[in-house]
Amino acid sequence: MANIFRDNLLTGKVAFLTGGGSGITLRIAERYASHGTHVMLIGRRQEKLEAAVAGIRGAGGSADSCAADVRDYDALQQAFKKTNELWGQIDLIVCGAAGNFPAPVLGMSANAFKSVIDIDLLGTFNTCRGGYEYLRKPGASILSISATHAFTPIPLQAHVCAGKAGVDMLSKVLAVEWGPSGVRVNVITPGPVDDTEGMRRLAPTEEARANASAKVPLRRFASKDEIADLALFLSSDAAAYITGSIVVCDGGQSLSGHSLGLA
Ligand code: HXC
Repeated sequence: MANIFRDNLLTGKVAFLTGGGSGITLRIAERYASHGTHVMLIGRRQEKLEAAVAGIRGAGGSADSCAADVRDYDALQQAFKKTNELWGQIDLIVCGAAGNFPAPVLGMSANAFKSVIDIDLLGTFNTCRGGYEYLRKPGASILSISATHAFTPIPLQAHVCAGKAGVDMLSKVLAVEWGPSGVRVNVITPGPVDDTEGMRRLAPTEEARANASAKVPLRRFASKDEIADLALFLSSDAAAYITGSIVVCDGGQSLSGHSLGLA
């Protein structure tokens, strides 16, 4: 029986992480790598990816990167092929690429709305659909990073709310369709997380940060490590019977009925 507190749970596994060059997903990659997993970081900007890879290698981990936009199915296919040639079958996928800017519906063009839907929802579809043939079956785990936006209507965030609700439902359908192949599909739903691009965009000032923290029952933001610990658990055999779950890690924020203090 796996014991998450004692065992090196992910030794020798292979992970593919979109949005892996920064933020929550990079911290998950670092956590995986420290447990012996080979991590392939996917993102749009090569320089950012190279810095992230250097950091993981510097800490003794195994990492590589491939520049690809999750909106580009063919580019993702190349990245999956590269990962497979380098390390073999893929055990873990993390769909972490996301886009965001605060704007009211009347302040965004159709293309602005589409750009976030394409990154968040279509990007998650492309990653899961394109990655399936490379997954270890049975045994693989897919995790998507959603947001409380998926079930809380938040002003100035219509694009993200719609996109993340789609990610949650897509993940549940995949859990049903791919369960018989031994592929688990789960979602992590963070609330506000410190030192992330999302919170820099949504709470750019000290006042906005304080306002957002005050809406959280635990009265603080999460750390990226707290999200990475949850990802480690859900990706491991300690969670072998968990699939189709939306796991909320938000300090109780979504229970309070508040919308991050945005409006
Ligand atoms: C209105 C805007 C806008 C703004 C961009 N657009 N910013 N509209 N208000 N503030 C419009 C543009 O005018 C354009 O429409 C369309 O959006 C696409 O813009 P581009 O810059 O061409 O797109 P692109 O380069 O693909 O960039 C995508 C992006 C950008 C989503 C707009 O913000 C991005 O790359 N973000 C990635 C990083 C990121 O956001 N990370 C945070 C994720 S946090 P027109 O009509 O002019 O062509 C997250 C979790 C949130 O998701 C949860 C926190 C609790």
